[in-house]
Amino acid sequence: MGNSIDQVALKQLFIDARTHNAWQQKSVSDDQLKQIYDLFKYAPTSVNCNPARIVFVKSSAEKERLVACVNPGNVDKTRNAPVTAIVGMDLDFYEALPTLFPHADAKSWFVGKEDFIQITAFRNSSLQGAYLILAIRALGLDCGAMSGFDAEKVNAEFFPNGRVKVNFLLNIGYGDSSSLLPRQPRPSFDEACKIL
Ligand SMILES: Cc1cc2nc3c(=O)[nH]c(=O)nc-3n(C[C@H](O)[C@H](O)[C@H](O)COP(=O)(O)O)c2cc1C
Repeated sequence: MGNSIDQVALKQLFIDARTHNAWQQKSVSDDQLKQIYDLFKYAPTSVNCNPARIVFVKSSAEKERLVACVNPGNVDKTRNAPVTAIVGMDLDFYEALPTLFPHADAKSWFVGKEDFIQITAFRNSSLQGAYLILAIRALGLDCGAMSGFDAEKVNAEFFPNGRVKVNFLLNIGYGDSSSLLPRQPRPSFDEACKIL
């Protein structure tokens, strides 16, 4: 469906893109966050279920509530990032399937099947989190994902009494590249892949 994007874009999205831990003093607007959503929302999920629910934490007061939930090594990077996204998953995602996937009775495939609901929400919200990372990079911003946090605390603070559960956290801003360590190796094609 179209041509390969150019080398500049490939570098920005993948080859030169890094996980950032330190941030420039440069803010991220609400409009930019809306642009990010309006890009990654188009990427695919199973039965178009779109279970990701994102809380963009910007204000200092809300940020401190979140900082209290992260591991010590993630405190400074979370506090200093202009925005931290809480990437959550809605375990009631299937309620919207009559609208999101109207050409089949997809909701009935999930009702009462908690294990299937859980794995579908986790798989697809993780994919949406990856699409979110790529949308952030495509728009010229940087990010840094974090799994080092207390999920029960995040859920209690930001998703109380709900069916939305945190998947992972993502700092967003303009990275300070001066603090980056060299890129670490990746498994080779032969180590990671096979063609049958
Ligand atoms: C899901 C996920 C969770 C991560 N959790 C943490 C974390 O809690 N703290 C941290 O400092 N880095 C965390 N990282 C960052 C990874 O260590 C980093 O992305 C990886 O080493 C690759 O670095 P690079 O993108 O700069 O090449 C996480 C990354 C991902 C994708």
